Amino acid sequence: MIHLDYTYCLKRKNPSGVSEEELAQTISRLEILNEKLHENPYPFMRLPFEKYELYEMKQKADEIKNGQIEDILLLGIGGSALGAYAIFNALLSPYHNYLKKPRYWILDNIDPLTIKTVAELLNKEKTILIVISKSGETPETLTQFMFFFKLLEDLPDLKNRIVVITDKKRGSLKRIADEERLFTLSVPEDVGGRFSVLSPVGMFPSLLLGLDVESILLGAKKMAEHIKGSNGEKNIGLLLCALLYLMDKKGKKIHVMMPYCDRLYGFSEWFRQLEAESLGKDGKGPTPLLARGVTDQHSQLQLYVGGPKDKFLIFIFAPSIDLPIPMSFPYVDELNYLSGRTFGQLFLSEFKATKLSASEAGVPVLEIDLDNVSCETIGALFYLFEMAIVLFGELLGINPFDQPGVEKGKIYTKAFMGSPSYSDLLSQLKAQEGLEEFKVSF
Ligand code: PA5
Repeated sequence: MIHLDYTYCLKRKNPSGVSEEELAQTISRLEILNEKLHENPYPFMRLPFEKYELYEMKQKADEIKNGQIEDILLLGIGGSALGAYAIFNALLSPYHNYLKKPRYWILDNIDPLTIKTVAELLNKEKTILIVISKSGETPETLTQFMFFFKLLEDLPDLKNRIVVITDKKRGSLKRIADEERLFTLSVPEDVGGRFSVLSPVGMFPSLLLGLDVESILLGAKKMAEHIKGSNGEKNIGLLLCALLYLMDKKGKKIHVMMPYCDRLYGFSEWFRQLEAESLGKDGKGPTPLLARGVTDQHSQLQLYVGGPKDKFLIFIFAPSIDLPIPMSFPYVDELNYLSGRTFGQLFLSEFKATKLSASEAGVPVLEIDLDNVSCETIGALFYLFEMAIVLFGELLGINPFDQPGVEKGKIYTKAFMGSPSYSDLLSQLKAQEGLEEFKVSF
């Protein structure tokens, strides 16, 4: 299903790569960590096996699908939105909303112009609202919910059209769901946002869009069994982790994920959050960057190849449909080499050419080849990267599950918005703001 080609990560092919000895040593360390991890697994590791709340999800999805739905609006941010986004991007057709119903909208920002535009686009009588927040306290998601609840309040069956996904016991969102008697699914205990895609957070929206959730979970389960049961370099979870870690250690601290497949760009966005928010602590952690093959060959590749040698390129290649390139302008001899070939061939050639030229320029490249972009493959990819990042955290001595740097910003926001719990802080911040300002206007 998933193949890691690390030829161009090795020193013997690329002087800035890793030696086979250091790779083997790191993998031996990881084998021990991996074994320990499986003796006492983190809660997210149970999700592929547990099929958490699958029965409840299916029942509710069937009930909703029996009615008329045209729009599914997902309110959530960060780990509460990116998993569903990655799945939809990979498994629904490009430009899905122009082609099929139900359409989906993921509001993961609070830009009022976007909110207003989505509100205007919805067919309100035929809309389903999914509100996702693990903490149930995230102001971005709660204010969006306040807005859409008001907007739709006159619908007689509104309460049947809302699904809340939040903590089982705590939080304002849970309180609202209880008071308003809204259908609620839960984020499993101790599973944080960016590790929750295989729970109702990612699975319920997927069910509503008609995707085969059991296959996504099966792919994750197969990967979980592989990572638990394989040894050495044959274990692609350990291999991936070792490469990410060693590259970081060698100063290749910018990890560029560049899928040659539009359908995997959402996955890269999900990965960016997973790597950044899990590992960026105590002055450590790589910086994930996103690029899209081939588009960004004409935008960022020059920097990756010719700029500072601090990049590790992670290319993902997946086959797609193919399209012939017709001979439309036979009088232009210079174009004849393209006519009669296919877009698939051009895509593959550009991929191979970029990989080779980057490697020749001394930039290590990891190639991840997928047999296809299917539910199973996506499930396996999610689990593979989750495990690689958790193990990476173990090697760095970092807790991958918290995000203290984000929490402070949340507290300041509450103070600026006038929360009575932070009135003292607000006075301090105002005093600070008034002190000095360096500003230029035109
Ligand atoms: O991964 C995480 O934990 C975060 O990105 C959260 O998902 C994000 O901050 C949203 O939090 P919540 O789901 O509590 O609304």
